[in-house]
Amino acid sequence: MNSLGEILYLSQLDVERLNIPMNEVIRIVEEAFHEKASERVEVPPKPGIHPQKDAFIHAMPAYIPKMKSAGVKWVSGFPENPKHGMPYITGLLILNDPETGAPICVMDCTWITAKRTGAATAVAAKHLARQDSKVLGILGCGVQGRSNLEALTVVCKNLEEVKAYDINETNLQKYVEEMTAKHGLKAVPVVSPRKAVENCDIVVTAGPILKHPQPVIEASWFKNGGFACPLDFDSYWKPEAMHSMDKFCTDDRDQLTYYKKLGYFSNIPNVYADLAEIVSGKKPGREDPNERIMSINLGIALEDMATAILVYEKAKEIGAGKKLPL
Ligand SMILES: NC(=O)c1ccc[n+]([C@@H]2O[C@H](COP(=O)([O-])OP(=O)(O)OC[C@H]3O[C@@H](n4cnc5c(N)ncnc54)[C@H](O)[C@@H]3O)[C@@H](O)[C@H]2O)c1
Repeated sequence: MNSLGEILYLSQLDVERLNIPMNEVIRIVEEAFHEKASERVEVPPKPGIHPQKDAFIHAMPAYIPKMKSAGVKWVSGFPENPKHGMPYITGLLILNDPETGAPICVMDCTWITAKRTGAATAVAAKHLARQDSKVLGILGCGVQGRSNLEALTVVCKNLEEVKAYDINETNLQKYVEEMTAKHGLKAVPVVSPRKAVENCDIVVTAGPILKHPQPVIEASWFKNGGFACPLDFDSYWKPEAMHSMDKFCTDDRDQLTYYKKLGYFSNIPNVYADLAEIVSGKKPGREDPNERIMSINLGIALEDMATAILVYEKAKEIGAGKKLPL
């Protein structure tokens, strides 16, 4: 080993094989939001570059002192990739030693991106959805459609049915079969976005993010008392549908403001609270069973670094991955 030391390299398979359960990811992500509420974290808005239309590569740094987690995720989303057999999301995450700044680990970030996004939805649902929520609508049955359902089953114990919609019939059928087998819920394929929203207690949209969206979801489709979590910005919900919410939340106010400056979110309501304010009780979550609540979760590095340190510690514990010289 040279004086610079070595890093631990964790491939996609190395990370997946650790089998960290979703409830642990949810717990650590919620704890990170508590730290944020106490202003004990550093998580600047993520800058990005855009080599293709509607594609991005984002740089996402964060530091969570309590978890001794510091690092950056360098993650891309390229909507044309699935046509060529590649995933939409790919990327790497680097962890640094907060004492010296030296890199200590490089890992594939696919698993983390899937799980921490589902976990953030679950944290939001825990505080903002009705606890007796039974029916979930999923629009976009890919990686996020799967991890969000998995995470919601952890916090919403009364979930019985999933109405699933996807523009790709093959993806939809595969999703319905897989999710029925995995979660023992009634998963029903539906033929239109409307049918995946109407009569649902929780709605998650996970289609592509579009700079110039052509949204279809109308205010009247969404049930009073419902909770909605768009992961695809304002691509699916019409402005009037978002304005019909009693509480409009986000995972991070600064990130939302940053995106607005870049030309996204041209017509959205004022933010009632962000998730740090909600989980810490600074702002009440759901107060009435009939409230219509939305949390636009943009995905922040705080969620990644909280999950990454779990991954790193577990990998070290069982000796996973490969040590490489710097
Ligand atoms: N907010 C966050 O924290 C966060 C994190 C990761 C991903 N995302 C976003 O979530 C979305 C999904 O990502 P993914 O990794 O699951 O992608 P994916 O490629 O695995 O899945 C996307 C699915 O959506 C389907 N689809 C495409 N257009 C659709 C439409 N109009 N209606 C319904 N379904 C449609 C595709 O057929 C595919 O099955 C992307 O927009 C991504 O940027 C958000």
